Parts: sequence; C-alpha cells; structure tokens
Amino acid sequence: MGFKVHDHHQYFGFLLFLIILATMFFNGECKNRSCDMFQGSWVIDPSYPLYNASLCPFVGTEFDCIKNKRPDQQYLQYRWQPHACSLSRFDGPNLLEKLKGKTIMFIGDSLSKNHWLSLLCMIHSSVPSARYTVKIHGAIGMTTYTFTDYGAKVIYHHNLYLVDIVKEKIGRVMKLDSITNGPLWLDVDYLVFNTWHWWTRKGPTQPFDYIQDGNKIYKDMDRLVAFGKAIDTWGRWVDHNINPLKSKVFFQGISPTHYNGSSWGEPKAQACVGQNVPIFGSTNHGTPSAALTVLKKELKTIKKPVTLLDITNLSMLRKDGHPSKYGLGKLSGRDCSHWCLAGVPDTWNILLYNLML
Ligand SMILES: *[C@@H]1O[C@H](CO)[C@@H](O)[C@H](O)[C@H]1NC(C)=O
Ligand SMILES: *[C@@H]1O[C@H](CO)[C@@H](O)[C@H](O)[C@H]1NC(C)=O
Ligand SMILES: *[C@@H]1O[C@H](CO)[C@@H](O)[C@H](O)[C@H]1NC(C)=O
Repeated sequence: MGFKVHDHHQYFGFLLFLIILATMFFNGECKNRSCDMFQGSWVIDPSYPLYNASLCPFVGTEFDCIKNKRPDQQYLQYRWQPHACSLSRFDGPNLLEKLKGKTIMFIGDSLSKNHWLSLLCMIHSSVPSARYTVKIHGAIGMTTYTFTDYGAKVIYHHNLYLVDIVKEKIGRVMKLDSITNGPLWLDVDYLVFNTWHWWTRKGPTQPFDYIQDGNKIYKDMDRLVAFGKAIDTWGRWVDHNINPLKSKVFFQGISPTHYNGSSWGEPKAQACVGQNVPIFGSTNHGTPSAALTVLKKELKTIKKPVTLLDITNLSMLRKDGHPSKYGLGKLSGRDCSHWCLAGVPDTWNILLYNLML
C-alpha cells in the first residue's frame, strides 16, 4: 500500500502517529528500565561540569582537584550516555521537592563520602538559595545536612564494613554476622550502601585483629569470602527490617581503582598519574573486581527490593577521574581510588536520580 502524493492529511497524520509512537517508545524505555542505563560511553559535553567545586561549600580539599592544582580540565566535561536511551538531566529543585520532609542517607566508606559530597554540591549549585544547617554526630560517624526550607536531609554515615567491629579481650574482632548500627538506618526514605575498599586492607591500617564467623574466630580469612558473608548478613538485615513502602534501598556497587595500567592496556603507566582522558567506547580491557561478582550473587538472595547502582564498568573507563597527585596527600600522594569533584560521582548521582524518579 503506497501513499498518494496528493493525500497530505493522511501522510502527515501517519508521520505524526509514527513520531508519537517513537517518543513513547524511547521515553518508556528508560522509565520501565528495559534500557540498561549502565551500558554506554562517555561523551564530551561542554555544559559540564555540573558545578564549580570552588563555589561548593561542602567539598573541602580532599576531592577538589582544581584547588589542589590539577592542571588539566578536560576530565570535567564528560557526560555518561547510555546506548539505548537518554538520562534525565539532574534537576536540583525537582529533587528537593521530591525529598521534601524526607531523608537520603549514604552509608559506607569514603567512597560514600565522595558520592554524598557530590550530591550536596549538585543540589547547592542548582538551588544556591536553598538554606541549610549541618549537624555532626562524631561519636556515630554521622553528618547531616538539612535543607531547611524543604525539611530534606542528606546524610553520610561513615561505616567501613557495615558489619560490626567489637573491642574484646583478644583485640578488635570483626563480626561477620552482626550489624548493630541498623537502627540508625531505619525510617530513611533512600538508603545508599557501599563497602569493599577496606576489605583488602592488611597491616597497620587494618582496623581489626580477628574475624569471627559464627562461633569460630580466625586470625584472617579469604577477604572475598568474608566480604560475601558480610553482604549476606546485610541482606538478611534488609529482609528483616526494611519496609519497602517506606524505604528504597540502593547498593552503590564496586568503585574501581586505577593502580595497575595493565587493566587498561597501558602496563607501563604509573597508576593513574598523568591520565587525562577516559577510555573511549564502552569496552574495558580489564575485568571488573571479583567483589562485584560476589556482590551481585549475594544481592540476588535478598527478597526485599534492592537496586544495584552498577557504576563499576562506567567508572572503570575513567582512569582520568581520580585525584592522583591532586588529592589529600598533595604532590606526594597517589590517590587512584577516590574521585575528583566535580567528576565521576556526579554521574553516579545522575543515575541515582533517574532511578529515584
Ligand atoms: C570557579 O569559581 C572560582 C571562584 O569564584 C573562579 O575563580 C573560577 O574561575 C571558576 N571556574 C570556572 C571554570 O568557572
Ligand atoms: C598488574 O596486573 C598484571 C596483570 O594482571 C600483573 O601481571 C602485574 O603484576 C600487576 N602489576 C602490579 C604492579 O601489581
Ligand atoms: C561490564 O563489563 C564486563 C566485561 O568486562 C561485562 O561482562 C559486563 O556485562 C558489563 N556489565 C555492565 C553492567 O555493563
């Protein structure tokens, strides 16, 4: 069946119908998550970064690479573009409306702090007039920013392993099957958990002396196995305590490091030092941390809904995103583990925002 040239109405009508159908299809894709927003690539976007870190009162010196004299700035201008759909742009006023009278809490190690400070800067830069107060509860490692006009709380709970470390006669014992901090996380509307980086610590900075699994106490054990047991314990906590009608639970995923150039096909690289472009395309040369496999397996056993913010692959492509010599340790440091702000965690928050919508 062909269209007759003179039949304009029918032709335009059909075209309009096609456009509407296509729009519904593409919009629907992201909304009903048939689009995997974690598969994509980094593209240059001159409208980035989303904020000027030196105008963000929260960021401090730790992650403000420009303040620490990082000379290159191209790393600030990459936007994550999923293959199959487009992400909604971050809309601070809309997020604050959504968080009215509500709480979002980031729980975990300093990667969670990175994530949390990024969100605070994103909110502040898009709503600079929003007033806020801060409360620091040092004893429990919790810092709360409240955007007072909205009653919206944005909280960081510093918690390295999620499971407990208890001082006993023999020393500091990590208890793989115990979580006593749980009450602090109840009644929170959005919970974003993370733990991994400290599981590989050994030597003087390892903050425990023994690991307890059930009735057995070990001097040490396979850390990946221990991590899996802790995530299992956490999953059981979620199943027993989370009311899915009240709280939405996310797991941040495993943030990759860039200490070994072999993982991006540049074995002679001095970790991430001097890296100033991402890996383009969407293929990593290396394989994601084995912790991600363990995490995904454990998350599958949880009955309550938990969303994995699967940021590992997309962050693996960003060998240029770390503070490197421009972090806390200044020129003597080599931080290829945290991320500059503005930077990669802003994208984690855009993904989180899209999942919250
Ligand atoms: C960020 O703000 C600082 C302080 O106002 C200013 O000196 C700098 O030029 C700004 N950077 C950009 C990229 O706008
Ligand atoms: C980097 O990774 C490669 C390949 O996995 C390995 O052979 C090498 O020993 C690693 N280098 C360092 C410094 O860990
Ligand atoms: C991440 O990359 C690995 C290969 O390195 C691939 O098997 C996996 O499907 C990717 N996951 C996502 C969510 O893109």
